[in-house]
Amino acid sequence: MTSPTLSSHCISKGFDTGKMHLQVIKNSSLDILPGELTLVIGPSGSGKSTMLSMMSGLLRPDTGHVLALGVDLWTLGEAALDRFRLENCGFVFQGFNLFSGLTALENVIVPLQYLGVRGTEATTRARRALDEVGLSTRSHLRPAELSGGEKQRVAIARALVKNPALIFADEPTSALDKTSGQTVIDLLKRIAADHGATVLGVTHDPRLLSHADRVIELEDGNVVRDRRTSDDGRRSNEQRKGKRPCSTASLGTALEAPRPARF
Ligand SMILES: Nc1ncnc2c1ncn2[C@@H]1O[C@H](COP(=O)(O)OP(=O)(O)OP(=O)(O)O)[C@@H](O)[C@H]1O
Ligand SMILES: [Mg+2]
Repeated sequence: MTSPTLSSHCISKGFDTGKMHLQVIKNSSLDILPGELTLVIGPSGSGKSTMLSMMSGLLRPDTGHVLALGVDLWTLGEAALDRFRLENCGFVFQGFNLFSGLTALENVIVPLQYLGVRGTEATTRARRALDEVGLSTRSHLRPAELSGGEKQRVAIARALVKNPALIFADEPTSALDKTSGQTVIDLLKRIAADHGATVLGVTHDPRLLSHADRVIELEDGNVVRDRRTSDDGRRSNEQRKGKRPCSTASLGTALEAPRPARF
């Protein structure tokens, strides 16, 4: 059985706005497996980005733990957490977040420079990553000269160039048309399979769900459904039942056993 590389244990998060306290995530526990694309879906405001941020070391939960590659993320100091993210995590966001003055190749090289990889090795690795996303012939162009889908593929190459074990994608297809969105999501799925990476994405686009290996549905900060698009015998959260009271209490009975896709 494949062991999870990313787990949350009873994480909660609320925000105080004025006199109101908004509890966004309530005692959530999830196991995310390597080698597959897991997509979190849910209505706007259901807590998808909050969940992703907590699981990727960007937002501290109020309660609970996040285990990433065996590291209890939120026990790390700020510098160690930054280092963990730099070495192990790739991020892809809706707005691409590319440097407008740099070419595609230069954008992909940036994280390698932070890791101390320079010169020919950095260029070779960046070219390989661009090749993997199908952009080897566009590497000399700046973001303004690329389409939305191409920009997002550059952003994916930039995440991929570090060869990270964990890749997080928050609405990576929202700014794209249907075809480009499917290309991007299929690319993320292939990267998970080919590199054995753990890819956790968030989307509100139901058309993309059939492209994922697993779909987790959030409503008001609770997981209301957790299903696989194919049943290869691996199990997700239900295997944890009985181990952690918080997990079973918060996830309730709505979790379903793996089963073939219905969509
Ligand atoms: N820093 C913050 N301060 C106050 N409230 C916040 C903060 N971040 C998120 N929220 C609130 O938490 C709720 C969940 O936000 P979140 O961004 O996680 O939702 P989402 O599911 O990603 O929505 P969307 O699909 O629109 O991106 C929202 O009601 C939002 O207003
Ligand atoms: Mg969001």
